[in-house]
Amino acid sequence: MRVLSGIQPTGNLHLGNYLGAIRNWVRMQDEMDSDSRCFFFLADMHSITVHETREQRLANVRDMTAALVACGIDPDRSVLFNQARVPAHAELCWLLNGTARIGWLNRMTQFKDKAGKNREGASVGLFVYPVLQAADVLLYQATHVPVGEDQKQHLELTRDIATKFNTDFGVELFTLPDPIIPKETARIMSLRDGTAKMSKSDPSDMSRINLTDDDETITQKVRKAKTDPEPLPSEVAGLEGRPEALNLVGIYATLTGSTPDAVCGAFAGQGFGAFKPALAEVLVDRLAPIRARYIALKDDHAALDAILEKGAAKAAQAAEPTLRGAYDAMGLMR
Ligand code: TYM
Repeated sequence: MRVLSGIQPTGNLHLGNYLGAIRNWVRMQDEMDSDSRCFFFLADMHSITVHETREQRLANVRDMTAALVACGIDPDRSVLFNQARVPAHAELCWLLNGTARIGWLNRMTQFKDKAGKNREGASVGLFVYPVLQAADVLLYQATHVPVGEDQKQHLELTRDIATKFNTDFGVELFTLPDPIIPKETARIMSLRDGTAKMSKSDPSDMSRINLTDDDETITQKVRKAKTDPEPLPSEVAGLEGRPEALNLVGIYATLTGSTPDAVCGAFAGQGFGAFKPALAEVLVDRLAPIRARYIALKDDHAALDAILEKGAAKAAQAAEPTLRGAYDAMGLMR
């Protein structure tokens, strides 16, 4: 079993990232036996698809490292690194560009969403983004990839690229990875629109809860979250057609280790005037310790850089046999 996942270091870690992915990373790390390792990385090479200044990018990588450690990623047990420090990712991506098909990439919904109407004006990097993601996963022979629902299609593409490469070159080089997607929190929605996912690229900060938000900000964002005037039903089935309400109930259930049905049972007949303060209290209670650890870590640049440097050395070592195998399978001398 080999666990691997990544996150783009652009903007803050938000509740969607945390409940959709990072909580699972920590859980899987904690359940691993000591001689198998988890690999978690900051996808800074992917972040070139978003324009940022040099200073911003440098700051983002450190900030996200501090946030991941604050959430419970232990750099002594897991390999935590930034992609740019391990050139094998870019190298394998290039090799896989010979295998990936334009038709496959044309079907990627994230590309369509991010490129929007102006496809001709989108960067080539945004188009081949999923090939770099395939390289990230295949380099380490990952078997389990804990992600939110929005990454499922990229993982399917990774499997297609791996299968085609293995077949075309008559090798059994790449392992086919399985996405690990949490059932209840696969897709945390925006607080302003229950049909859009919570995202760091949403222009409104009120749409998301950042793991760095203070207690007052969290409470205010929950208070202002879009809801409807109906009371909560006694079972979750009664929330059909009420995406905002369903989202908030789902968040509450996950944070309290309960189920949406049980939460509806507990708040049945009550309106959001009663539910929202309860939700805010749970969020503040769960996020305050993470925020405190983040604040304690974030300015210690030397410590954060040391974590990433050590992680990159381990990652490069782990990636080498697969990278060598790929060059060799293709008849490229290194
Ligand atoms: P990114 O940085 O957009 O998000 C990081 C993780 O958070 C999950 N996520 C969510 N889950 C539930 N609800 C939401 N609203 C929500 N928003 C984000 C994402 O599904 C993801 O698991 N392409 C990836 C990074 C990446 C990667 C990889 C992941 C690069 N290489 C290899 C896995 C394996 C991305 O942009 O994630």
